[in-house]
Amino acid sequence: MTNNLNSLEALTEKKVSRRDILKTAGIGGVGVILGASGLGGVLALKESKASSPELNQDAVPFYGKHQSGITTKAQNHVYFVSLDITTTHKDDLADLFKEWTKAAALMIEGKAIGELSSNELLPPKDTGEAAGLSPSNLTITFGVGPSLFVKDNQDRFGLKNKQPKELVDLPAFPLDALEAEWTGGDLCIQACADDLQVAFHAVRNLIRIARGKATLKWAQTGFQRTKQADSKNETPRNLFGFKDGTVNPNVDSEKQLNQHVWVQSGDGPDWLVNGSYLVVRRIQMFIEVWDRTNLREQENTFGRYRDSGAPLGQKNELDHLDFNHKKENGEDYIPSNSHVRLSHGDGSQQILRRAYSYADGMDLKTGSFDAGLLFLCFQRKPSKQFIPIQTRLAKMDKLNEYTSHRGSAIFACLPGAKQGGFIGETLFN
Ligand code: HEM
Repeated sequence: MTNNLNSLEALTEKKVSRRDILKTAGIGGVGVILGASGLGGVLALKESKASSPELNQDAVPFYGKHQSGITTKAQNHVYFVSLDITTTHKDDLADLFKEWTKAAALMIEGKAIGELSSNELLPPKDTGEAAGLSPSNLTITFGVGPSLFVKDNQDRFGLKNKQPKELVDLPAFPLDALEAEWTGGDLCIQACADDLQVAFHAVRNLIRIARGKATLKWAQTGFQRTKQADSKNETPRNLFGFKDGTVNPNVDSEKQLNQHVWVQSGDGPDWLVNGSYLVVRRIQMFIEVWDRTNLREQENTFGRYRDSGAPLGQKNELDHLDFNHKKENGEDYIPSNSHVRLSHGDGSQQILRRAYSYADGMDLKTGSFDAGLLFLCFQRKPSKQFIPIQTRLAKMDKLNEYTSHRGSAIFACLPGAKQGGFIGETLFN
């Protein structure tokens, strides 16, 4: 179908006979449209100007050393998708990434991905729902999963020798309750924007471009409090009411990012240098159970105060975590099974968390909310960062009483592209 549509697109660019078109189309639907259109020997194209709002201040640059959407300040919404590749040709993949790059670069500037044409043969290139909307700080981040390289023991695209050692399926952690419908994927797209319609439009158009080459495997939206609702720009709160995102590597420090987030030369294959590994977990939060729990218990679960976000025993959100701080009765202020104590460990393993809440209506199995956290974190080496942290958490985190990991995936987020180049160039060329 894609090939047919592509050839149709090519046909619209030159003058061709009606007979040629019908021969090339070879597909009933298009034939019918042509018949109904009553076109003679020549196709008349009437172009109208695509709606492209003036370049706005809320446009995040697309081209650069790294992809955007990793150290970019989290926008209000995420639309995350995982994809299965359906083509068997490596060249198709390279072409797909070229097309995706072009489209993403336009959409990030708030532009449509094609002119609005009254061509009667083809649907409009751009689906239109973002027309007239600002770029809304849209970022589009692309990643590749372990199964791009090897699936069912097959070296699908001759890329096996390029698979980084770090890009392997995550181990099974105790208490994992993963469901196939939220797990894995050959490719991923993370679209973040301050407007959900803008993020959805981006993903929808990219999936549309991928027709015949890749299909949707799973999708998840997420949200944070909006910027309008939080003029002070404080740390967002998760659905348990706690500030979430306080301790993170400093995105303004190149040194910290090189240490914890960006893949460095020598870490593995060169194609991923300046990229980053993304671990995504769809974690359901049992908010009804939480809502029956008293405040002290809630605060002991995280090891922080709900109101201020300060570590227990301290005053302010940004106060240093002091795990030796004891109460008069000798008890630790920050309990040994609290989430911050366990996730912090000795402080050497740091990940860049960029999580969003999700609320997906009702969990049909239990009648409770299907709500929680779309946990997204970026790092340089999952084996030294996410995996050891989650190993500790899965064993004894008090938070486990209130959460369940239902989805999981790992992706290598490609390095950024130079103007004129494309995302994935280092891998596919
Ligand atoms: C629904 C699940 C989760 C919730 C609600 C949650 C919530 C929180 C909260 C409220 C904090 C304290 C404030 C902050 O520093 O942001 C925190 C810290 C942290 N969490 Fe989570 N988290 C969840 C899952 C995870 C997972 C799966 C990991 C990684 C495996 C993780 C890693 C961390 C780390 C590294 C910190 C900072 C620790 C430090 O102070 O050094 N969290 N989380």
